[in-house]
Amino acid sequence: MTDKNKTIPTAILGASGYTGAELVRLLVHHPQAEIKVLTAERRAGKPVAEVHPHLGGLDLPPLTATAGADLSQVAAVFACLPHGASQEIIAALPDDLKIIDLSADFRLADTATYAQWYGRDHAAPELQKEAVYGLAEVAREAVTTARLVANPGCYPTASLLPLAPLLGAGLIDPEGIIIDAKSGVSGAGRALKDSNLFCEVSESFTAYGVAAHRHGPEIEQGLSDAAGSPVAVTFTPHLGPMNRGIFATIYVRLAGRADANALRAALAASYSGAPFVRVLEEGAMPSTRHVRGSNACHMSVFADRRPGGAILLSVIDNLMKGASGQAVQNFNLMFRLDETAGLDGLALSP
Ligand SMILES: NC(=O)c1ccc[n+]([C@@H]2O[C@H](COP(=O)([O-])OP(=O)(O)OC[C@H]3O[C@@H](n4cnc5c(N)ncnc54)[C@H](OP(=O)(O)O)[C@@H]3O)[C@@H](O)[C@H]2O)c1
Repeated sequence: MTDKNKTIPTAILGASGYTGAELVRLLVHHPQAEIKVLTAERRAGKPVAEVHPHLGGLDLPPLTATAGADLSQVAAVFACLPHGASQEIIAALPDDLKIIDLSADFRLADTATYAQWYGRDHAAPELQKEAVYGLAEVAREAVTTARLVANPGCYPTASLLPLAPLLGAGLIDPEGIIIDAKSGVSGAGRALKDSNLFCEVSESFTAYGVAAHRHGPEIEQGLSDAAGSPVAVTFTPHLGPMNRGIFATIYVRLAGRADANALRAALAASYSGAPFVRVLEEGAMPSTRHVRGSNACHMSVFADRRPGGAILLSVIDNLMKGASGQAVQNFNLMFRLDETAGLDGLALSP
């Protein structure tokens, strides 16, 4: 059904996956975006209600194959595809489309860093240069004028939001930052993997990608931009027995005479106009449950027991602020809409 109040026709490529489903859930209630095209790979041709039963009963277009999808009536594309495939599909899209890519393909600005971490040369290096890294709270103006936005990764979002303003203000030491982060299993997508089976994940906690995870260079890129000089971090991701959520515990050394109160005040000032970031009061503990299903990032600052240090805690929902919610936030900025349009849903806690 066409809603005449909805004026921006959109396509979701990879709508049979988790981030694609989350985008459908959000855009159905968006005041301006209309879903015109939904695509899939293995699940192309299946009814949406069969692939995503929670979206059954809605008036949605069918899942068609991504290759050859008719985008002639569309103004914006959300690409929810695996990295590698995404850059090749996006490179073939018409120039007049605004594109938000949820994959990692356009996040690293440096072609050599990309090749080092992804084991291949980029298929669209000119687009890699053009893409704007869409952490809206840090790059709001650039996102507003972008044609292609690289939607940030989930661990980088949870890490950069507390760290970037503090590094930019010179309140923490760029040396020795440790990011210990945990993710829910939906962070790995819907494709079948032994390591994500219920028996492997439930009642268990494991680290993965130790000193080798591709979000490491993405985090360092954002921190180096904020600090104005190269920053290296220790970053260890973990998989925990929950469906959604990222919890980042970040250890920093204080710079100069700064203390935890100064860090908290600086973050509160930095995000005073940011609708999705909440800096918690002293002693308050963030929880993934408090942001589940919402586009919020909650963060708090604690003084370390050892003098000269602080501990930052940051939580997001990986499918929302870590992916599809942030993508809608970027879409809103690119089309000069209210940044919160379609994103006013509260968290689902408990
Ligand atoms: N999950 C998260 O929390 C999260 C957070 C931030 C960023 N991301 C990134 O966002 C992208 C999508 O993630 P996701 O979790 O939604 O993944 P997913 O659940 O595995 O879904 C992937 C989608 O891509 C399609 N697809 C698979 N292989 C393809 C190919 N070779 N060519 C074209 N389409 C293909 C799948 O179609 P079929 O199912 O029909 O085969 C499905 O629609 C990924 O790049 C991921 O890294 C994910």
